[in-house]
Amino acid sequence: MERFVIQGNTRVHGEIAISGSKNAALPILAAVLLCDGATVVDNLPQLQDVATSLELLGSLGVELGMAGTRRLEANPRQVHSLTAPYELVRKMRASILVLGPMLTRFGEANVSFPGGCAIGSRPVDIHLQGLRALGASIEIEDGFIRATVDGRLHGTTICMPMVSVGATENLMMAAALAKGTTRLENAACEPEISDLANCLNAWGARVTGAGTQTIVIEGVERMPGGYFRVMPDRIETGTYLAAAAATRGSIRVTDADPSTLEQVLQTLRATGAYVALGADWISLDMQGRRPLAVDLVTAPYPGFPTDMQAQLTVVNAVADGVGRVTETIFENRFMQIQELRRMGADIVIDANTATVKGVNRLKGTRVLASDLRASASLIIAALAADGETCIDDIHYVDRGYECIEAKLHQLGVQIIRMTSE
Ligand code: EPZ
Repeated sequence: MERFVIQGNTRVHGEIAISGSKNAALPILAAVLLCDGATVVDNLPQLQDVATSLELLGSLGVELGMAGTRRLEANPRQVHSLTAPYELVRKMRASILVLGPMLTRFGEANVSFPGGCAIGSRPVDIHLQGLRALGASIEIEDGFIRATVDGRLHGTTICMPMVSVGATENLMMAAALAKGTTRLENAACEPEISDLANCLNAWGARVTGAGTQTIVIEGVERMPGGYFRVMPDRIETGTYLAAAAATRGSIRVTDADPSTLEQVLQTLRATGAYVALGADWISLDMQGRRPLAVDLVTAPYPGFPTDMQAQLTVVNAVADGVGRVTETIFENRFMQIQELRRMGADIVIDANTATVKGVNRLKGTRVLASDLRASASLIIAALAADGETCIDDIHYVDRGYECIEAKLHQLGVQIIRMTSE
């Protein structure tokens, strides 16, 4: 098991470049399966989840080549398997995103049923309901989702019962090669949805309305493929900004897209941070002051993103005042709080609201990571704490934060990765 050892009392200071978005890259890699020609995906982040996606595409028979560390050339002309195996889906739930593309292109798809994870049960019922509405026959057997369609899927109107990023992505991709037009009502509006739609259109699809609650997909006969560059990662951006806020530091992030995290920037300004921004950069400066506590409620975009909840909970943990954090998206996304309490945080949970009374300093100790964003929040807590912190089970971090030690070193952080039996 690997662990991080981090020195506390660190005021984050410096400049880093933001990598490509994990949550845009994963559906875009699945969309490769829609094309019958070569595709190039640029600005791919070097993450464990991207590596798992490439392993999955390779297992299906997609020809893959890396032209540089972040530029993938993929050609799905030799796809020979239509089964996403358990061992890969178990590693990454987002493997479910190959279901729609495989089904609509090849008329069949078998995907191991994705389990839950630390933050919740993560069902896929909305994905399956939508695919059935498009004409798919779906059976669940031997732990697999087995989807088939005679001929092509057929366009229809689908009103999703709740906002789901993954279901919106899966159904948008399934509809891309369906016969006729599909309307997705109550669609997710996240920037990653728009990035996927832009990619599908660049590769030959006809998608309009992405970024709004109604997306219209006009099915096409084929998608020849082409080039696409993945958007910057808005959650990585927010995570480093939150680290500067919690440690009373200052930071400039480049290769970013400020337009994708307006609610996060508004919340950080409420902590007392001075935030300036340009077309592709953001600077945040606390001027050495302790952050002010803030209240936040997570919500689908453009609301406050659930993926930034754990990071702002840590800012509140060392803030002046009491902040209330309400998680409305996932049923178990306060996993980091028991570890923060072990560092001296004063947090009371009542149902889906955490009341956080800021303390002047946390205290470094040994803590355990539980999921991706909880791990990031423990790193932020370690920086703001007195003394040394050891974070166990840090494989979660590598799923979503590219070159995190190198970027933290650029920000003046003393962090080392240690391997223990
Ligand atoms: C995506 O997950 C992201 N992952 C998550 O980021 C993010 O937290 C989430 O969207 C919400 O923004 C990727 O994009 C790879 P949902 P997804 O479907 O698509 C329920 C990270 O840290 N639901 O929008 O799985 C579900 O249980 C990860 O980078 C159903 O009930 O999220 C949840 O309560 C974590 N049935 C809510 O909807 C379904 O069929 C939102 O889930 C689908 C979802």
